[in-house]
Amino acid sequence: MKPQELLNIPPETDAISRVDGRLKVTGAAQYSAEFTLPGMTYAVFATSNITKGTIKTLDTKAALRAPGVISVITYQNAPKLPGYETGKDPSKPATAGGPLRLFFDNTIKFNGEPIALVIADSFERATYAASLVKAEYEQESFQTDTSKKLNQAATPHGPRFSDYKRGTPDDWQNAQVKLEAEYVIPVNVHNPMELHAIIANWDAPDKVTVYDKTQGVKSTQRSIAQAFKLPPENVQVISKFVGGAFGAALRTWPHETAAVMAAQMVKRPVKLVLTREQMFNSVGYRPYTWQKMSMGATADGKLTAMIHEATGQTSTFEEFTEGTVNLTRFMYACPSVGTIYKIAPVDVNTPTWMRGPGEATGAFALESAMDELADKLGIDPIEFRIRNHADTDPENGKPFSSKYLKEAYQLGADKIGWKDRPAKAGTLMQDGWLVGYGMGSGTFGAGRGQATVKAILTADGRLTLQTAVSDIGPGTGTAMTQVASEVMGIPAQNIKIELGDSSLPPSPTQGGSMITSTVGSAVHDTCVALREKFQQLLGNGGTDDPDYVKILKDKNLPQLDVTLISQGSPEMRNYSMYSFSVHFVQVKVNPKTGVVRVNKVVSVADSGHIVSPKTARSQVIGGAIGGIGMALMEDGVMDHRYGRYVNADLAGYHVPVHADIPQIDALFVNKPDYKVNPIGAKGMGEIALIGMSAAVANAVYNATGKRIRELPITPDKLL
Ligand code: MOS
Repeated sequence: MKPQELLNIPPETDAISRVDGRLKVTGAAQYSAEFTLPGMTYAVFATSNITKGTIKTLDTKAALRAPGVISVITYQNAPKLPGYETGKDPSKPATAGGPLRLFFDNTIKFNGEPIALVIADSFERATYAASLVKAEYEQESFQTDTSKKLNQAATPHGPRFSDYKRGTPDDWQNAQVKLEAEYVIPVNVHNPMELHAIIANWDAPDKVTVYDKTQGVKSTQRSIAQAFKLPPENVQVISKFVGGAFGAALRTWPHETAAVMAAQMVKRPVKLVLTREQMFNSVGYRPYTWQKMSMGATADGKLTAMIHEATGQTSTFEEFTEGTVNLTRFMYACPSVGTIYKIAPVDVNTPTWMRGPGEATGAFALESAMDELADKLGIDPIEFRIRNHADTDPENGKPFSSKYLKEAYQLGADKIGWKDRPAKAGTLMQDGWLVGYGMGSGTFGAGRGQATVKAILTADGRLTLQTAVSDIGPGTGTAMTQVASEVMGIPAQNIKIELGDSSLPPSPTQGGSMITSTVGSAVHDTCVALREKFQQLLGNGGTDDPDYVKILKDKNLPQLDVTLISQGSPEMRNYSMYSFSVHFVQVKVNPKTGVVRVNKVVSVADSGHIVSPKTARSQVIGGAIGGIGMALMEDGVMDHRYGRYVNADLAGYHVPVHADIPQIDALFVNKPDYKVNPIGAKGMGEIALIGMSAAVANAVYNATGKRIRELPITPDKLL
């Protein structure tokens, strides 16, 4: 196997272009499904077409007789994996219940659940044979509609999700100006371009290698090791390139375990690629969530009390939880705040985190409600937010490590032309279209975790950086190159990044907007240590600008390297650490058809020092587009009579295309936060989306006078 080399680094410019950009656009980058191994076999699932019940009979004879078929795995012949006995999975979300154990027994818990895995000598033959698997079921009644189960929702297990209260939140009812409103988001499905794929190959009876689409090679290594009772070092997980994930590859899913099981059974490499349809019920989704905001303010626009309630959808076998209501506790200075978070189990597959998890859902309610209350008060929505600006964290009294929300409001308002926003909704008409402006804020935790990086400087003056983290698209390799280049004084084209492999020094799962902060800082610390090592070799305190090549030559050394474990931020005890964003949108709404066109977007990020300007800009643009999709299009539509999605493909599940997206301006406050980490960077991936859907909904209100509280804002809702 070739080491992962992110080649073709362009000549230095002010901002480094993607170090892997050329590999990606030329097709040279190898994604998990694109590896070939000798003796490869192909696995395809047959899935349940009932929603709940048990398998009575399962006929695999025809499938087994079909050309090229090597094996058919069902609950009847699958080994009982050691990890299946407890149902515990170390990398699964910290929730109650256990992950789905494929082929463990004959129960069916959701529609589309795999009932058999057909392994054949080609993908096409496996696909055909899978169609021959026939099952008879004992069906049970089911419910997949969360809106029908809201009254049976319960508080999740685990202290992080217990009800929160400060002051007297019920006082909102006695306020001079008040609002009580309900908001609903539907199921959103991540739908990254790259399908989930895994190739599993047992190198020895107790040793397995997988090429896998994952956001965390180390967590996938742990999960597989746990399921098969192997020492973790006997499981190698390679995820060189990931074609988007948005959270869908944050955990190890049943299809991954099934592929490893299949490879063990047929004693050959097994490739398993999910279909687009299977992506809807195999790798999570943003759950349907109902919310209610109850808020009160004084007549001059000071928040007095508010309650944020949310109930999210989960499966019957796992408690999926996310921080939907948490931002309401600290986003604004409000003396009395209550939050209540519940989950309602329905007969579906388990949801998972999707970009801006929890907060994106919560911000739709909070930032829509802030707009509604500002409207009732007759105060400009930015002015209303400034009047309730939290200078310190109202949840815990700590200072913020940095917060430039007011600066972000100003930057964005100037850029979008906020002064042209009509004070009265539905009054600005241009060329037959209603025009409106809206804004919404976002926030997400900005922590730094632990990571290990190895830096090697060789006699040719080139620097190699090694760490396990996979890069799902934000440009982790590029940001790391930028940091190393600055610390070492080495041009970017002489730096090589090796990542996406569990055998490299450990670093965390790519998620939670933590990686630039965590791994970028670890690169910083490791490179500082490597520089010092060179300076020590020089003696006499060295020089500020050591000539690495000369030092290695003089000392007759082939290379110098440093492996360093970098810790999380110690200042997290003393400060509240958050990134903030503000999104501004101008929309046009056609009064005859109800069509919404997003005309202008300005997104402003307060995410500390911008390490890698080009990839940061891409992150913000991508998040804004995701937010527009969430606001106007994305909707996993289930026919609740059958418990099946009716739009489980990219024709029916609408996401924005180029024609839907105007020029997007990405602005950065770009003020370093050295309390979070030595590179001054705060996270950016999540805040790029969080608050965007409310900004669009608020703009639609400003254009039309119609307040849409249930996403997506499709034309029918505006007529
Ligand atoms: Mo993100 S939802 O942490 O991949």
